[in-house]
Amino acid sequence: MNLDQQVVVVTGAAQGIGRAIALAFAAEGSKVIVNDVNGEGAQQTAAEIVSNGGQAVAIRADIAEPGAVRAMFERACDTFGHVTTLINNAGYQHFKPLLDHTPEAWNKVLSIDLSGAFHCAQAAIPHMVAAGGGFIVNIASVHAQRTLPTSPAYAAAKAGIVAFTHSLALEFGPKNIRVNCVSPGAIETDALRAYLDSLPPERRESELQYLLSWHPLGRLGRPQDIADVVVFLCSPKAQFIHGAEITADGGLTARLF
Ligand SMILES: NC(=O)c1ccc[n+]([C@@H]2O[C@H](COP(=O)([O-])OP(=O)(O)OC[C@H]3O[C@@H](n4cnc5c(N)ncnc54)[C@H](O)[C@@H]3O)[C@@H](O)[C@H]2O)c1
Repeated sequence: MNLDQQVVVVTGAAQGIGRAIALAFAAEGSKVIVNDVNGEGAQQTAAEIVSNGGQAVAIRADIAEPGAVRAMFERACDTFGHVTTLINNAGYQHFKPLLDHTPEAWNKVLSIDLSGAFHCAQAAIPHMVAAGGGFIVNIASVHAQRTLPTSPAYAAAKAGIVAFTHSLALEFGPKNIRVNCVSPGAIETDALRAYLDSLPPERRESELQYLLSWHPLGRLGRPQDIADVVVFLCSPKAQFIHGAEITADGGLTARLF
């Protein structure tokens, strides 16, 4: 299925990586549902797509709420006829040592970063089967592979997303639904800035320089770097890529020391 035949739901598309993914699909002629819990931000992304000549609708929904997710997919189908493509991008990061993780914080990370993808996949897949096939790309993280001492919930959720991807690929490959995940490294977005801001002020610049020193390409990632991979995975050029975790980290995890 070509990109201009796809109806794409992008979660968490008010800003950052999700916004870049929504704009990238629209540039290829896809119809886009711009989801976010931040309704105003979602409207802004959708308006930008429409002003560029594309087709997009913003739907405010919390992906941690199964009822809201089901309603979003019903509305998406009412608007564009069907849904072919789901990009599970919305995420929430929480960096604290284990003993400072409250049960509420643990549950919040898991309910958005892992269960949110489950709710969206459950709501989307019947529509994809009805459309004769589809695509799912889950946004994981290099934290699924290597992590920090301050990210037990986030790392667990992202490792769960990789395993979830494998399971969906096995179950729904026979239904012509290709399922993959992308693990970004350090991408310049508000989420990365929030991580740096969570550090004591005197450590922020040194942490940024330290992060940069781990990147053999000499720069951090940009949202467009991830959007390009996601669009490729949903294109006919990636027909035999299925059940894969594609790392896009500028070489961050290649280093031994
Ligand atoms: N930025 C990075 O360095 C980086 C690295 C690896 C992975 N990731 C992953 O990429 C994805 C996007 O990251 P980002 O940096 O663009 O984040 P971001 O915080 O800039 O944007 C995330 C978006 O998700 C939305 N969102 C949060 N909870 C939601 C919910 N319950 N329902 C709907 N929308 C919700 C937010 O409102 C926000 O617009 C996330 O899954 C993140 O874990 C980011």
